[in-house]
Amino acid sequence: MTNHSFSNRDLSVLWHPCTQMKDHETFPIIPIKKGQGVWLEDFDGNRYLDAISSWWVNLFGHANPTINAALKDQLDTLEHVIFAGFTHESAIKLAEKLVEITPEGLNRCFYADNGSAAVEVALKMSFHYWRNQSNESGQTQKTKFITLENSYHGETLGALAVGNVPLYKETYAPLLMDVITVSGPDCYYREPGESWAEYSSRRFALMENTLQDHADTVCAVIIEPLVQCAGNMRMYDPVYLKLLREACDKYDVHLIADEIAVGFGRTGTLFACEQAAITPDFMCLSKGLTGGYLALSAVLTTNDIYQAFYDDYQKLTAFLHSHSYTGNALACRAALATLEIFQQQDIIAKNQTLAKTLATVAAQFHDHPHVAEVRQTGMIVAIEMVKNKRTKEPYPWQERRGLRVYQYALSKGVLLRPLGNVIYFMPPYIINEDELRLMAEVAWDGIQQAVRD
Ligand SMILES: Cc1ncc(COP(=O)(O)O)c(C=O)c1O
Repeated sequence: MTNHSFSNRDLSVLWHPCTQMKDHETFPIIPIKKGQGVWLEDFDGNRYLDAISSWWVNLFGHANPTINAALKDQLDTLEHVIFAGFTHESAIKLAEKLVEITPEGLNRCFYADNGSAAVEVALKMSFHYWRNQSNESGQTQKTKFITLENSYHGETLGALAVGNVPLYKETYAPLLMDVITVSGPDCYYREPGESWAEYSSRRFALMENTLQDHADTVCAVIIEPLVQCAGNMRMYDPVYLKLLREACDKYDVHLIADEIAVGFGRTGTLFACEQAAITPDFMCLSKGLTGGYLALSAVLTTNDIYQAFYDDYQKLTAFLHSHSYTGNALACRAALATLEIFQQQDIIAKNQTLAKTLATVAAQFHDHPHVAEVRQTGMIVAIEMVKNKRTKEPYPWQERRGLRVYQYALSKGVLLRPLGNVIYFMPPYIINEDELRLMAEVAWDGIQQAVRD
């Protein structure tokens, strides 16, 4: 079988996510035959360096031997079992481990099966907590959520409502609950000479004012700690999280940390919240949780919140959110194997060296005449390609210059998937120096092609 035959079959029956399917009239969809380490291989034998970890999920490479072995063992033992009234060893061990490694005070783990579902769980749990806390009538004023401009939390209706990226949200706006949106700490907009910390602190005033005005009606603030990934990899300083934690305590509002994209070492620490030394009331995890193998998510929360649901059945305070595949045994086992790799190989320490190499290979982009900013947080580097470097005037989105980088890079064997005009690197942690250099070289040449006219 060749790429051509598979792509024809695919395009006659499939509908892909985040894709205008008509685009595939002009460029082919790529059928992948196998993966090994950071490399993917198609049916014609072309190889692609997976520089974006297959949508930010893969941590330790495709076909990782440790995760493969764990999964094979789990497969012969238990693939799945209903998770209400029943439990299993891998789910228990994983919850114990997550409680141990997440910030102090997060003691309860609720499973769901993808990132958006975890966000739905956190939103519902926060609202339901306030409802359970209220008087006998079960009425609560707290029904709203605060979110940041340019945020992304997934694409199911609740998650989409608390997101703010227009591309995903605008069309569906009539279906979505109202939220309170606050302009955020995105350091791309700081003044010349202003540090990330100064700008992020200064921008917090807007959040403080909003909390002051609306705390009575607000359940929670939801935030992507340190990097707004789908919002063009925009970054900010940990001080914002510190201030937000203090303000949420002051105004009696929950803090939901959506670490779905940034968790598991992406920002340089195991969890981004660690850099601000905070414990959120809810932490949403997914993506890297299973090393990029299987769909699983977890919401970690506090005993205080758990206790607000714990009562006699007749009080009807139990949390209701169920997915058929909750706590899937294979997914839990893949996650356990992933966490073992972190521990046994001291990945966070190793990544410090890797992040420095990443900074070195990305350094050349600072001086590119069409790059307004190169920013980095840990293992994530983003390159802001613009029309005018001095004014930061962007290229019109209709010109799809990021797509030109994508197509060029594919032709050279590197999978980059720019977000609009932002080219970014978010590779698996097993990438080596030569591969990092290749990735950067191809990105450079791709940008050269994309800005030619
Ligand atoms: C911060 C964040 N939250 C939530 C999600 C949604 O996760 P999923 O795609 O698994 O639904 C994403 C996905 O990119 C994300 O980046």
